[in-house]
Amino acid sequence: MSRKLTVLITGANRGIGLALTKHYISLGCEVICTCRDEQLTSMREQMLSFGGNPENVIALTLNDSRQIERIAEVFPAKSLDILVNNAALGDASEGAKFDKMNMNEWSDVFQANTIAPVLLSKTLFPFLEASPNPLIVMITSHLASIELNDSPDSVLYGASKAALNSVVRRLAISPEFIDRKITLGLVHPGSVKTRLSGFQGISTETSAQNIAAVAEKFKSGEFSSASFIDSETQTVIPW
Ligand SMILES: NC(=O)c1ccc[n+]([C@@H]2O[C@H](COP(=O)([O-])OP(=O)(O)OC[C@H]3O[C@@H](n4cnc5c(N)ncnc54)[C@H](OP(=O)(O)O)[C@@H]3O)[C@@H](O)[C@H]2O)c1
Repeated sequence: MSRKLTVLITGANRGIGLALTKHYISLGCEVICTCRDEQLTSMREQMLSFGGNPENVIALTLNDSRQIERIAEVFPAKSLDILVNNAALGDASEGAKFDKMNMNEWSDVFQANTIAPVLLSKTLFPFLEASPNPLIVMITSHLASIELNDSPDSVLYGASKAALNSVVRRLAISPEFIDRKITLGLVHPGSVKTRLSGFQGISTETSAQNIAAVAEKFKSGEFSSASFIDSETQTVIPW
């Protein structure tokens, strides 16, 4: 019998994170997921309705470094096979426009999209080390691509995801990750019908299936660590 995989998904209360939670539960995985404090009750009810364990829902606000550190203390498993850093913040607000930009707006987007996924990976490192084939999936965006980018929009968001991609490329060749054989995957989920995209694009269910298929390719070695992959086409995106 194959081993039951433990998967952690951040930002599970809606959008792609919710679909990934349902998808991995349907595959028989032990799913642990996060949402903000105020969403805990409704997320626990959703977990139960999907056949998951409501006790596996953990509070996490990305900009709260103490909450990130605390996850190691309340983590309900001995090891972690797949960490999906999915939660992120868009930059559709007024304060993201060039003439309105301010330090707080930049800080919020970078804390949520760049710093938090890296610090959460650090916090959960001992649990990943305990897995026989650990994988960290960073949900990034094609808007991170400097080469492809021909849009004047999403300045903060694109920059925060490009910075995340850059960190991942460096970590993937660091001794910590190479010695422990921890694979890192950079995955663009496609244009997906969620609040972040203004509800344009493919369904969250299709995107979750595509992301899980790419995760399998990282785990099998078909995609090398730190590759930047479009999960819709399953091809490499230029940096
Ligand atoms: N949708 C697309 O077309 C698209 C395209 C490229 C990349 N992506 C990426 O796909 C991932 C999922 O996005 P989505 O489309 O599913 O967006 P979404 O529906 O807006 O969901 C975003 C999730 O992130 C959580 N989140 C945001 N800021 C947070 C914070 N500071 N602390 C804790 N949780 C926070 C949200 O929680 P709350 O509900 O509590 O705010 C929500 O669960 C993101 O990494 C996004 O960048 C999406």
